[in-house]
Amino acid sequence: MTRIPHDTSGEPNPLTALSLDQLRRRTSMKWRTHPEDVLPVWVAEMDVPVAEPVVRAVTEAMRTGDTGYPAGTAYAEALAAFAGKRWDWPELAVERTAIVPDVMLGVVEMLRLVTGQGDAVVVNPPVYPPFFDFVRHAERRVAEAPLGADARLDLDVLEDTFREVTAGGGRAAYLLCSPHNPTGTVHTADELTAVAAFAERYGVRVVADEIHAPLVLGDARFVPYLSVPGGERGLSLMSASKAWNLAGLKAALAVAGPGAGDELARMPEIVGHGPSHVGILAHTAALRDGTAWLDALLAGLDANRRLLTGLLAEHVPAVRYRPGDGTYLAWLDCRDLGLGDDPAAAFLAHGRVALTGGLPFGTGGAGHARLNLATSPEVLTEAVRRMAEAARAAGGARG
Ligand SMILES: Cc1ncc(COP(=O)(O)O)c(C=O)c1O
Repeated sequence: MTRIPHDTSGEPNPLTALSLDQLRRRTSMKWRTHPEDVLPVWVAEMDVPVAEPVVRAVTEAMRTGDTGYPAGTAYAEALAAFAGKRWDWPELAVERTAIVPDVMLGVVEMLRLVTGQGDAVVVNPPVYPPFFDFVRHAERRVAEAPLGADARLDLDVLEDTFREVTAGGGRAAYLLCSPHNPTGTVHTADELTAVAAFAERYGVRVVADEIHAPLVLGDARFVPYLSVPGGERGLSLMSASKAWNLAGLKAALAVAGPGAGDELARMPEIVGHGPSHVGILAHTAALRDGTAWLDALLAGLDANRRLLTGLLAEHVPAVRYRPGDGTYLAWLDCRDLGLGDDPAAAFLAHGRVALTGGLPFGTGGAGHARLNLATSPEVLTEAVRRMAEAARAAGGARG
């Protein structure tokens, strides 16, 4: 695997650009859910300024009154160019894409295309909690195929689950999280090729949530599911939302492999009424012109995961952390702290630091908490100090 050249020349680390005072003026979920004395390192929003190319695109739209309905394929073209350069994947076909309001609503639409009411959707817990909620919202049932103890796909468990959910002859889908939230696991080409072979063998349709795809650090490489042998019948959801912090500017893309294009074409046209034109402009600018900014971010995140490793070892050594190569999320095994099933509740109550509790992530979530690394080294340091304080105050620390 070749290393992605991270060209951070001229781009400052966006994670160190904003002070805590500036961040506290934000009105988004991360900053307004808890009182002011709580340090928020939970929901997947980043403490960064918006990349200049995005600011320019949105400002220009405001200046010219370009605030109507969306048209055209510029977003898909920008993603295709990005995928070609970044992932050596030139086969993303613009004609096999559709704009959807956001990734999770896109997931629901893809599940509607390939499964029926009551059919099973396989997920790999611990996993992003809305996977459970949206599958149920789509009137499908969740089947769990937990990750292995190494936080990687357990291919034996996955195959067994595929076999079970299709045993009665029903349709089934697999909602793959790639890279995986919350562990940051970046699935390898071999793993994904095995997934595609099982999917083919049992007739399970793969819907890959690849929202974190640009957020891969160091030597690891993101492999698009649709690019692996046998992945042609897959459907993917991609977006600039996570990597450029654009959750407030909703827009995402559904992408079909060559064997799923006809199905994607059957997605109701009205789904395309959901995304915002300005959101699409923002996402397009990020993918087209935001690569240097992204590389500076990735360098900062890489430093932060090393910093976190050191801070935990020093201040709360009972917490186990295996840094993932993808996402900006750290999945912390706090079971040895003695804080019970929901250590995030103890961190909040006794340390005034907000992490995401592990329980809603499904099997494997108890005793865990998820920490958002996309912040400054100062905030990260203070967050761990507060965690250590909480562990001491709760009387649970054993190290
Ligand atoms: C794996 C995953 N999918 C989807 C989303 C949400 O994306 P959207 O806001 O586009 O629905 C997130 C947000 O953190 C996520 O981590």
